[in-house]
Amino acid sequence: MAIISSRQQSQPNGEQPKRQRNAKKSAVPPREKENNLLQPEAEVDEQGKQEESIRPHRFDDYIGQKDLKDVLEIAIKAAKSRGEVLDHLLLYGPPGLGKTTMAMILASEMGVNCKITSAPALERPRDIAGLLVNLKPGDVLFIDEIHRLSRMAEEILYPAMEDYRLDVTVGKGTSARTRSIPLSKFTLVGATTRVGALTSPLRDRFGLVQKLKFYEPDELSKIVIRSAQLLNTPINEEGAAEVARRARGTPRIANRLLKRVRDYAEVKSCGEINRQVAAEALELFQVDPCGLDWTDRKMLSVIIEQFNGGPVGLETLAAATGEDTQTIEEVYEPYLMQIGYLSRTPRGRTATQAAYKHMGFKAAANEQLSLL
Ligand SMILES: Nc1ncnc2c1ncn2[C@@H]1O[C@H](COP(=O)(O)OP(=O)(O)O)[C@@H](O)[C@H]1O
Ligand SMILES: [Mg+2]
Repeated sequence: MAIISSRQQSQPNGEQPKRQRNAKKSAVPPREKENNLLQPEAEVDEQGKQEESIRPHRFDDYIGQKDLKDVLEIAIKAAKSRGEVLDHLLLYGPPGLGKTTMAMILASEMGVNCKITSAPALERPRDIAGLLVNLKPGDVLFIDEIHRLSRMAEEILYPAMEDYRLDVTVGKGTSARTRSIPLSKFTLVGATTRVGALTSPLRDRFGLVQKLKFYEPDELSKIVIRSAQLLNTPINEEGAAEVARRARGTPRIANRLLKRVRDYAEVKSCGEINRQVAAEALELFQVDPCGLDWTDRKMLSVIIEQFNGGPVGLETLAAATGEDTQTIEEVYEPYLMQIGYLSRTPRGRTATQAAYKHMGFKAAANEQLSLL
């Protein structure tokens, strides 16, 4: 599989990703944010060997996401039986849930190459044109963070997606002519954490649009057990369940926590990882039993303590936590809503009874109101 470019390469000078830069600029002392075990984004060096070694490569190893798998399995079978290429596919959902992994699996199931790139690396028209003309019949072109494509890149993509054609302008001024270059039939797989930020002409050109959901604890347990096998780490079911419970419904975080627990078990020579070892290790790394990190807890405590349970506006939460509003909306809120700690109302965010309980506060007097 050819990796044309990746986020890693688009930051050759070792620049930090946006979120970390924002965190640095914020008023919140960095000391309090040191624990990044629970961040769902891939760390730069984590995109290297180890994440690759445990990334599933076959449909059968891709655990959970039943709806997505059902839809794609049918699409693959149909495309194969007709001898056609797979429809263009848009995958959206929070980071770390398996979008890149699914794109690679699709390519291997179809028996074709997968070229991986990300929108910020396609700034100049010739970047994307170069990629398109080099595609072989049936190839999968994976574009990560597709909502960040420039207008120009998008316009090049439209005819490519629709008619497998690249329109280039030759010459300048009055003598300018448009030439069409035929392209091989290919499948575009786009991934985004912000489907709402996609322009509608682009979104409409995807035949399949699929959402990835957070994983259930039992699915995450299976992922942990599978990864532990690949890492040659003995773990029992309860140990895996303990790691899974704290992983924010996200496989990437589950795998990361597993590695920390493995280190702990090796150093303390605990042998097999059981519930107690996993809990001790994660306690040591300050991972909350529900997987909440400093920012989640700060959001909830601001809503509860300063605003009597809410509603609180997004901007206020962003200011209180030092995160940008986009990160709060895309990374923190979806998980807090999933576990029933936060609800979104037109007037702002409110904390639920469960959040009061988890944070050690007495039940909210205005819960009725806050759930409206
Ligand atoms: N369904 C799954 N089953 C097993 N492991 C998974 C699954 N989805 C994701 N993973 C693991 O999580 C890691 C992150 O997944 P990735 O596809 O890179 O997420 P995304 O592209 O959505 O940010 C992968 O390296 C893989 O090991
Ligand atoms: Mg990815």
